[in-house]
Amino acid sequence: MKTLVRTARAFTNIALIKYWGKKNQILKLPCTNSLSLTLDRFYTDTKVTIVNDHHDTVYLNHKLLDQTQNKRILKYLDTVRQFYSFDDHFIVDTVNHVPTSAGFASSASGFAALAAAINETKQLNLNKRELSILARNGSGSASRSIYGGFVEWIAGDSNETSFAAPIDENPQIDLTLLSVVINKGSKKISSTVGMENSVKTSPFYPNWVTLVASEIKEIKQAIAKKDIQRIGEIAEHNAMSMHALTLSANPSFTYFEPETIRIFQIIQELRQKGILAYATIDAGPNVKIICTNESITKVQKYIEEQLSNVSCVVANIGSGIQYI
Ligand code: PMV
Repeated sequence: MKTLVRTARAFTNIALIKYWGKKNQILKLPCTNSLSLTLDRFYTDTKVTIVNDHHDTVYLNHKLLDQTQNKRILKYLDTVRQFYSFDDHFIVDTVNHVPTSAGFASSASGFAALAAAINETKQLNLNKRELSILARNGSGSASRSIYGGFVEWIAGDSNETSFAAPIDENPQIDLTLLSVVINKGSKKISSTVGMENSVKTSPFYPNWVTLVASEIKEIKQAIAKKDIQRIGEIAEHNAMSMHALTLSANPSFTYFEPETIRIFQIIQELRQKGILAYATIDAGPNVKIICTNESITKVQKYIEEQLSNVSCVVANIGSGIQYI
């Protein structure tokens, strides 16, 4: 009898303290710890089937990927085969569930779902720490999507010691996130290249390493106290400091677009009116706004009144890996 292979589902996460820089490119070992919140709106479903063949086939949203599109996934499958010493090849069936393009990168949910799907199909019986290590080898931020809620990725100094750990998987906190989508196109400078340039050329990079260590400590205290305002203040400062690394790289670059700055100004105006809103921005122009259940409607209304060419998506706190 054929055993039923379940589909793995992983949700995306937003870093409140960013991962920006690797000390080992091959193993994707970061220079610092990072801390994120898993979200409930954007997720990836992946199913992996073993084939009696010598090559892998990848479908994304039911479309077959060609040799350039599937390169990163095929390389990852080779790494996994090498790790666990097996020769099987696979059909990877992956579907991204994105609400009208939420402006989130799919690599976090994508590689977390793929790692979990391989674990399921190959019956590797990996625990969550081992799964996080496996996901990290696909994309650094994917290590954190194994868990729900607030998650910390411990930098470590080897493949075995670099993994994510939960801080609070089911936090009872009134925090919601508004994703403001400015540009749905793919970014010109990948996060890998952006990180490398920042580490090598920004004179501020050593300060970033020190800053992250202290901001992680502080934000964990704010999370424990459920102090959303403090969480927002620290997350916004951390995001702006990350983008300062791109501006101070040589040659300098930025992920910001004019609307990114405009939304940042709007957030400051909202705060002056006493409305809770803090910005965080990843390696792209879209802004994610940390709000409360009370402030989010006002924030969304104000942004939509001021800017006609952006769209907003609301996200709440999400869970870790699921098998369906
Ligand atoms: O996991 P990557 O290689 O896509 O890098 C993610 C980098 C940021 O999103 C900017 C920050 C983070 O910690 O997620």
